[in-house]
Amino acid sequence: MTLPIAIVGHGKMGRLIEALAPEYGCEVRARFTSGSAARGAGLSSASLKGAQVAVEFSTAAAAPENLRTLAGLGVNSVAGTTGWFERLPSVNEAVGKNNTALVWSANFSVGANLFLQAVAQTAALFAAQPAYDAWAWEIHHAQKKDAPSGTLKKLAEAMQRAGYTRPIALAANRAGAHPGTHEIGFDSAADTITLRHTARSREGFARGALQAARWIAGKQGVYEFGEILGQLPPP
Ligand SMILES: NC(=O)c1ccc[n+]([C@@H]2O[C@H](COP(=O)([O-])OP(=O)(O)OC[C@H]3O[C@@H](n4cnc5c(N)ncnc54)[C@H](OP(=O)(O)O)[C@@H]3O)[C@@H](O)[C@H]2O)c1
Repeated sequence: MTLPIAIVGHGKMGRLIEALAPEYGCEVRARFTSGSAARGAGLSSASLKGAQVAVEFSTAAAAPENLRTLAGLGVNSVAGTTGWFERLPSVNEAVGKNNTALVWSANFSVGANLFLQAVAQTAALFAAQPAYDAWAWEIHHAQKKDAPSGTLKKLAEAMQRAGYTRPIALAANRAGAHPGTHEIGFDSAADTITLRHTARSREGFARGALQAARWIAGKQGVYEFGEILGQLPPP
């Protein structure tokens, strides 16, 4: 069955999600940019044109209010905008109050989420080897506003949760058009071990967001993309 969706934030990600939507049985009914959705005001039942799920890739300043407005309108959301997650509790509250649903992630790439699991398992092994220091590094295109990326912070947190409690040196670069590389390394006097995820384009994020849109339709509650990986519908 075709799923009617809205694209909130019709920039690089929003346009790619729209282009790939038919492959996932999604029909784009409405699109919003800064002009048409500024501070949530332009999002309404009429302007959403029957969309059941909104895919939100806008700006950190706009995302929390857009997501609260969408919850108030009874629309489930895929929240991809980064740099605002410290305000997630207020969005969760709106989702709970309106019995809607939200799936959020700083990184909707399936490969990057499996990379996170691999990093956590590796960090647990190196936790017991004090000869090794760790670093975490990422590079993204010059337009990316938040640094270090939400994904890099999450990788470092996953390492700590896995038992790696020594310091982890974090670094970020912004340059050119790079879609995103994250690297975790362990270094000793004897050797260096690196784990690296390189996105070839934004396509992996867009595909994951569309799989999440299909999954979240008709659900209630707040989910992090990593926790639903095993339940995603096949592309
Ligand atoms: N989670 C992930 O996997 C993932 C992957 C890639 C990117 N991202 C994040 O997704 C976000 C968007 O990235 P992008 O590369 O698509 O950025 P972008 O090309 O700059 O597009 C941003 C879009 O948001 C629109 N916008 C601004 N204010 C808005 C508002 N109040 N309501 C609705 N739309 C609004 C902009 O409209 P105008 O054109 O009118 O300004 C533009 O269409 C960023 O936070 C980025 O870090 C997340």
